[in-house]
Amino acid sequence: MEPIDQIMQHDHERLDQLLEQGAEAVSQGAWPEAAHLLETFRHGIVDGHMAVEESTLFPAFERQKGDEAQSLTALLRKGHQDLRIFFEEMAEAIQEQDAETFDDLLSTVQTILKQHDAKEENELYPILATALTDHGEAAGRRILDFEAEAES
Ligand SMILES: [Fe+2]
Ligand SMILES: [Fe+2]
Repeated sequence: MEPIDQIMQHDHERLDQLLEQGAEAVSQGAWPEAAHLLETFRHGIVDGHMAVEESTLFPAFERQKGDEAQSLTALLRKGHQDLRIFFEEMAEAIQEQDAETFDDLLSTVQTILKQHDAKEENELYPILATALTDHGEAAGRRILDFEAEAES
């Protein structure tokens, strides 16, 4: 298995691509396909990626780094909260076949995600292999399972 930081970074890229594909479907007016792609994206990022970060990776980082970690993980958790709301609004825009609202939400979400993911990749993921007692195996396997499920 790849190291946990690589798995998480690749998952960022995979999720970015799914969101791009959803946006492409919206721009073509392919609404059922857009809804399906957005739901695949939402499930992968909310139920997979963010759930693993919040339940396993952030706590490991906090244990390793102590108090100085709190401001970063608080910021990242708040980012997840905001993103979850935007994802719901994007799904509503698709349901209403409102491409303009979708595009506004998309650019906001992509801006937030870009900064959020870079912070994780630079400041948090590099120390996970040492912070997690199993070197991130269990977390990595959960992410890989979600990726496999999305492809099937
Ligand atoms: Fe995150
Ligand atoms: Fe992440």
